Amino acid sequence: MRLSSLIRRFEDALAKAAGRRPLSAEERRIERLRALGVKIGQGCLIYTDGFSTEPYLIEIGDHVGIAKGTEFVTHEPALWLVRDRYPNAQVFGRIVVGSNTFIGINCVILPNTTIGRGCIVGAATVVRGLVPDDSVAYGNPARVIRGKAAFLAQQLLRDRNRLDARSLSAAERMRLLLAHFGLPPPESP
Ligand SMILES: CC(C)(COP(=O)(O)OP(=O)(O)OC[C@H]1O[C@@H](n2cnc3c(N)ncnc32)[C@H](O)[C@@H]1OP(=O)(O)O)[C@@H](O)C(=O)NCCC(=O)NCCS
Repeated sequence: MRLSSLIRRFEDALAKAAGRRPLSAEERRIERLRALGVKIGQGCLIYTDGFSTEPYLIEIGDHVGIAKGTEFVTHEPALWLVRDRYPNAQVFGRIVVGSNTFIGINCVILPNTTIGRGCIVGAATVVRGLVPDDSVAYGNPARVIRGKAAFLAQQLLRDRNRLDARSLSAAERMRLLLAHFGLPPPESP
């Protein structure tokens, strides 16, 4: 058994003994990232460990969702080209993400970037600079559409594929989705 699994089991046992619920994998990740120096607000859901070599330059607000594969980058590469003359020089940049923002899967957030409050960053987007509050940003280079994120959320509430499935178990969710899309159950192996 790996050391990390042993430590997790030990921590779970301690939590149980103290009458506390064991932390989920996501809660553990947030604790780990905070210990590395990332400032993370309350109620966040973070599915990536890609917080750069300078995690303490990154600040995440409250209730921020970050999908897997997303990478935060806090340093510039170009000094590599003059490394022989300036062996120690590096250039860094901070990253700030405002509250109630969602960053999709496989994004790259470059140094000196501020993503505002209530924004949506689409899948595989490369972001640099300022994304104002309530924007939807997508693509590479990112196209930023101001004043659209809250509207998009309202629109999705009326989407014909909107289902209240979040708190269901995996099996219940599958039953609901198969019925909704008119699909047969998967064949058992
Ligand atoms: C950006 C997003 C939120 C949708 O925004 P939207 O405003 O509804 O966008 P639309 O679907 O109306 O598309 C508008 C245009 O942007 C393009 N587009 C949408 N998302 C894009 C993306 N991620 N990258 C590049 N282009 C994208 C569409 O192809 C369309 O192009 P067109 O105008 O040339 O036809 C969505 O496409 C997305 O990327 N979601 C993230 C999904 C994700 O990562 N989920 C993780 C769950 S854990």
